[in-house]
Amino acid sequence: MPELERLRHDHAPALLAFEQENRAYFAASIPDRGDAYFASFGQRLADLLAEQATGACHFHVLIGGDGEVLGRVNLVDVADGSAELGYRIAKSAANQGLATAAVRQLCLLAATEYRLTSLRAATTLDNAGSRAVLARTGFVATGEIRLGDRPGLSYVRTLSDVPQPVGS
Ligand SMILES: CC(C)(COP(=O)(O)OP(=O)(O)OC[C@H]1O[C@@H](n2cnc3c(N)ncnc32)[C@H](O)[C@@H]1OP(=O)(O)O)[C@@H](O)C(=O)NCCC(=O)NCCS
Repeated sequence: MPELERLRHDHAPALLAFEQENRAYFAASIPDRGDAYFASFGQRLADLLAEQATGACHFHVLIGGDGEVLGRVNLVDVADGSAELGYRIAKSAANQGLATAAVRQLCLLAATEYRLTSLRAATTLDNAGSRAVLARTGFVATGEIRLGDRPGLSYVRTLSDVPQPVGS
C-alpha cells in the first residue's frame, strides 16, 4: 500500500506531474481544474498549505515506491467537528482498492488526529467507482443533490465507531 502523507511543499513536483498526467482522466468524472490551476500551481499550493496550517483543511497524498503521487485524499471545510472528504486516484493505479484503503485510513486519522466526529462527501450518480468507495467505507447517502449540471448524492459518515487512542 502506498504511504499516506500529509501534504508538504516538497511534494510539489510529484503532485504537479500527477495532476498533469491525469488531467483528462479526472475531467471525465469531475470538473476540470482549468488552465489557471496549472499556470499558478506553485502559488496555489503555497496558499493551500497556509490554509492547512490554520486547521481549516487537511490534505494528503498517496506516495508510491518511486516517490510518485498516486492519489490525493483531502478534508476541507473543517468546522464543528466535521469536514468534507474529497479524493482522486491516478489512472495507472485505478481499481486496485487504493481509494477504499486511503479513505479508511483517513477516517481513522480524522477521528484520532484531527478529532472530528463526522465526515461529509458528495458524488454524482454516474460516478460508480466513487459511490462504491463511499458505500464500502461506511458513508450513508443522505439526500439527492446537484453537482454542477449532474444529479448526485450527499453522504455522511459518523466516526463514533473508530477506536480512540488509549488515554484520550
Ligand atoms: C473514484 C476513484 C477515486 C476510485 O478510485 P479507486 O482506487 O479505483 O477505487 P477502489 O479501487 O478502491 O474501488 C473502486 C470500486 O469501484 C468499482 N468501479 C470503478 N468504476 C466503476 C464503474 N464504472 N462501474 C461500476 N463499478 C466501478 C471498481 O470495480 C471497484 O470495486 P471492486 O473493488 O469491487 O471491483 C477514482 O476512479 C478516481 O479518482 N476517479 C476520478 C476522480 C473522482 O471521481 N473522484 C471522486 C469524486 S466524488
